Amino acid sequence: MPNGELKTLDRVIIFDTTLRDGEQAPGASMTVSDKVHIARQLALLGVDVIEAGFPISSPGQREAVARISDEVSGPTICGLARAVQGDVEAAGLALESADRKRIHTFIATSDIHLAAKFDSPKYGNTIAEKRNTVLRMAVDAVALAKTFTHDVEFSAEDAGRTDPAFLTEIFRAVVEAGATTINIPDTTGYTTPAEYAAIFKTVRRDCGFGPEIVLSTHCHDDLGLAVANSLAAVRVGARQVECTINGLGERAGNAALEEIVMALRVRSDVYGVATGIDAKHLTKTSRMVALASGHDVPACKAIVGANAFSHEAGIHQDGVLKSRATYEIMRAEDVGNDGESIRLGRHSGRHGLFGRLNRLGIHVEESDRDRVYREFVALADRKKEIFDEDLRVIARQAPTGDAGQRYTLEQIHVAVDTGAEPRASVVVKNTRSGLETLFEATGDGPIDALYGAIDGAVGENHDLLSYDIRSVTHGADALGEVTVNIGAGGKRYAGAATNTDVILASASAYLEALNKLVVYRTDVESVEFVANGIMQSFTGEDIGA
Ligand code: KIV
Ligand code: ZN
Repeated sequence: MPNGELKTLDRVIIFDTTLRDGEQAPGASMTVSDKVHIARQLALLGVDVIEAGFPISSPGQREAVARISDEVSGPTICGLARAVQGDVEAAGLALESADRKRIHTFIATSDIHLAAKFDSPKYGNTIAEKRNTVLRMAVDAVALAKTFTHDVEFSAEDAGRTDPAFLTEIFRAVVEAGATTINIPDTTGYTTPAEYAAIFKTVRRDCGFGPEIVLSTHCHDDLGLAVANSLAAVRVGARQVECTINGLGERAGNAALEEIVMALRVRSDVYGVATGIDAKHLTKTSRMVALASGHDVPACKAIVGANAFSHEAGIHQDGVLKSRATYEIMRAEDVGNDGESIRLGRHSGRHGLFGRLNRLGIHVEESDRDRVYREFVALADRKKEIFDEDLRVIARQAPTGDAGQRYTLEQIHVAVDTGAEPRASVVVKNTRSGLETLFEATGDGPIDALYGAIDGAVGENHDLLSYDIRSVTHGADALGEVTVNIGAGGKRYAGAATNTDVILASASAYLEALNKLVVYRTDVESVEFVANGIMQSFTGEDIGA
């Protein structure tokens, strides 16, 4: 590849990491069955690589990678591994049944990371010695990964802040050991587009790689530059982009797949490259991920936001009616936004309801269909019009597949009287033991009292991190949506629920978060994720990564 800008149209590999880096967004833990559904949708969307998880990190991650390897065909399935033997072997094992598999191994390379994470003298006393150690670990990990698959990717974590001379050295060494994709992550979202592109130019020039070695981008959005940085690297020869649906990810998130893909398509005159993405599946995929992760898409988000294609100002509406080209650079239909907002009502049948849910990207398990239909009919009795947003929230209240419901709310009473302290009583059932517990509490307000009563009945240690309430539909009969985040053992668990009765919604959201805490706690006990999802400590093992 010549150093400089591209002249010919060629293919960029879309590497989707929604299920790995995306899932590391606070509170975004997805169930294994959610992940399998999303992976199937990603295959339909046409991504080239699905990073399905980090197998060593927990039994849930291992299972997700193994099931996706087994059940999803088309894309290459990838598993993440630190540059240590146990990780690489766990990834190799989890990927066993994939038709096409990739092991993605990584190690930190910046001096900041080396000094902080490889501080033990066993990695060397000076930065130069520590660099030698990580180089050796990287080479060994790549060589081991090659015994599982020919397709091996190496990432230099915090490459954006790594000495370019060391980047060149380590990349040369891992390519010699067999790596075929070289990923250059801007782990902290620190670089600017010009700086990020310059790193790619330097690596390509100084490493002397041929086109068989794919250079890859992986950008975080801490300065809002993740998409711009990825595109800048594509202009100078990067041929793989790592990204997530809706930009989901740690902290400010990752580069958004839908934005990258549509920028490359709409501005192919600038970038001169193509992807294999079938853009008409973007909207549905975005909705599936929003629903499974509990991270809503902001209305004004590019490509997939609710307002991305709606024209409000009269002058814009007038222009679009005369010629769409006046204010539209792409069509809503191009990204699968059919603009359909059919108003379902109480007389709509099951067929109409599930057909619409399917088009919204909402999968309802067979076993949950009766409940969803019953709730739809009940809501249609209370509300004149049912909007898409109503349907999303009804479906979201479904028991979350394998997360299940350890605790269910059997009774609830909340009293607020002038001059008296708010008081709540609840009966919570433990579905495993069958035990029902009644608990009463008072509080500063009705929600405080309610949550005190639920805490008393459930008896799980945790902190309430956030409580939000908003109206999600229109009119006086609008649904109120409550989202709750609780924290325990260094991990966040999110719950969301919607009801015209906000007290009930508050109770259900809180209980959903508690149910997730109980189910996922075992995963979390063995592993701790820190900033950027990079694992800092493993029980009983210190490897500095
Ligand atoms: O941001 C990062 O550095 C990562 C690596 C594991 C690729 O996610
Ligand atoms: Zn990352």
